[in-house]
Amino acid sequence: MSLPNQKFETLQIHAGQEVDPTTGARAVPIYQTTSYVFNNSEHGANLFALKEFGNIYTRIMNPTSDVFEKRMAALEGGVAALAVSSGQAAQFIALNNILQAGDNFVSSSYLYGGTYNQFKVAFKRLGIEVRFAEGDDAASMESLIDENTKAIYTETIGNPSFNVPDFDKISAVAKKHDLPLIVDNTFGAGGY
Ligand SMILES: Cc1ncc(COP(=O)(O)O)c(C=O)c1O
Repeated sequence: MSLPNQKFETLQIHAGQEVDPTTGARAVPIYQTTSYVFNNSEHGANLFALKEFGNIYTRIMNPTSDVFEKRMAALEGGVAALAVSSGQAAQFIALNNILQAGDNFVSSSYLYGGTYNQFKVAFKRLGIEVRFAEGDDAASMESLIDENTKAIYTETIGNPSFNVPDFDKISAVAKKHDLPLIVDNTFGAGGY
């Protein structure tokens, strides 16, 4: 685990795991497994019931990606992180987890083209409406919020406009309406 006095450069290589606890390996081992052995059926049942913490299945968790997730959370000053394979997947998971058919979310209109299509075309097919604000203007975002709005979405740095939204204003709107503010900082792909 990270020590409190570790700085960004150290966290980049040590946060989440300084030494592999089972082998002493300095580098994070790559666990090439889909499944994990349960001690007995009760152990398996407890894991699936979330009564006990442990590895269940690699699509849900994997010790290698767990270190990556902890490392990203430490670098970003976050509570936790979830690793996925692409930016589009991250957006889908973030939004799909909190919206259902009939809901809407308010988005900056300064968006990466693939994101625009995902919101305007793919989410529409699922019955989820995106409401595009004028650029990344906080007042415009607020004017689009109604009782079915479940999130506010923006990018930083926006692609392709290179805009940096006014986070103080947008987060004040989000807090006022008790909405999660989802921010994509993937520009150029690769990080979320
Ligand atoms: C701002 C932004 N969000 C999302 C994406 C999509 O990322 P991915 O290609 O990993 O799905 C991109 C890709 O360039 C991007 O620039």
